Amino acid sequence: MPEQAGPLSAAEAMARAVSLATRGPENGPNPRVGCVILSERGDVLGEGWHRGAGTAHAEVEALRDAASAGADVRGATAVVTLEPCSHTGRTGPCVDALTEAGIGAVRFAVADPGGTSGGGAGVLLGRGIAAVHAPDAAASALTRRWHAAMRLGRPYVIAKWAATLDGRMAAADGTSFWITGDEAREHAHQVRGTVDAIAVGTGTVRADDPSLSARPGGHESGHQPLRVVIGNSPTPGAQVWRDTNAVAVPAHRPEAVLEALHAREVRTLLVEGGPTVLAAFFREGLVDEAHAYIAPALLGAGPTVVADLGIGTMEDALRGQSVTSRALGADTLVTALFPRGV
Ligand SMILES: NC(=O)c1ccc[n+]([C@@H]2O[C@H](COP(=O)([O-])OP(=O)(O)OC[C@H]3O[C@@H](n4cnc5c(N)ncnc54)[C@H](OP(=O)(O)O)[C@@H]3O)[C@@H](O)[C@H]2O)c1
Repeated sequence: MPEQAGPLSAAEAMARAVSLATRGPENGPNPRVGCVILSERGDVLGEGWHRGAGTAHAEVEALRDAASAGADVRGATAVVTLEPCSHTGRTGPCVDALTEAGIGAVRFAVADPGGTSGGGAGVLLGRGIAAVHAPDAAASALTRRWHAAMRLGRPYVIAKWAATLDGRMAAADGTSFWITGDEAREHAHQVRGTVDAIAVGTGTVRADDPSLSARPGGHESGHQPLRVVIGNSPTPGAQVWRDTNAVAVPAHRPEAVLEALHAREVRTLLVEGGPTVLAAFFREGLVDEAHAYIAPALLGAGPTVVADLGIGTMEDALRGQSVTSRALGADTLVTALFPRGV
């Protein structure tokens, strides 16, 4: 139980729950979730967060925290960033843990879209426990990619590339290493550390022989995404196969790739190219977010970022939304959402 300056309002407790949730891992099959148990006058009786798949959910952590402090949680309110689950997965249903503990009310920020895990609020209401949906922007932001993956029944797809000012992804001789500088590459490694899988086509494996590992700060991060090579031709001896956490998906249809990865509980997939694979994902409307690292360089020749999308007129251009841009050394990172279907 934390030191507390005074009683918390429901909004303050939700902000605290969001902050607790951020301690959990960004990758993995489960979302980041935080929970605060409040007494009637707003004292924090217990708090917890989810540390990743296979470990206790945030509500159970908070109940344990309260129990270890000897706090009586009967009639208390559990403030939680995500609707408590109603199913037995790797752990038991949170609705049962809350009921058995005698919790009187639950305030949750994000409804669980899961087919099996959802519906917890209805179960609680049926047991006479007030379950209130109290939407919160920060809590939604925390689960945005996971939520989309659950709703769509496929991984959330981020397309990423590095390109020159004239939209070239590689030089005429096929080389594409070091288009961007240190800061952009460091950022890209940090992003790799937050996703479940990274995919490239066999063409990129042959041209660049990437390791596809996450190395923020120049060191392999604790979490390494699954490396995925898309395409039919074998790529024996490539660096990517030095790691056991790598798979070949001998398919061209992006849907088939996503289906295979969904079955492996991949929630966020980073597609790093090349132009053939990126075009296939964009063409099928299967890119949810794009990250373009733009270097102030010109090549005048070489492959462009995305191969032919079959778009013949300006009116049909795919346009991103919620665009952001930021400088990374001499380069610029532009991000955009493509919320078709999300
Ligand atoms: N700057 C960057 O960010 C960046 C990133 C990646 C790559 N690149 C550059 O991109 C170039 C390679 O381009 P690329 O287009 O060959 O690479 P690619 O998109 O990685 O691979 C293309 C190959 O993947 C397979 N494939 C997978 N899905 C497919 C689909 N839907 N349709 C057709 N084929 C599909 C095909 O091979 P199979 O015959 O094996 O099926 C195809 O030849 C290199 O010069 C590399 O340096 C640059």
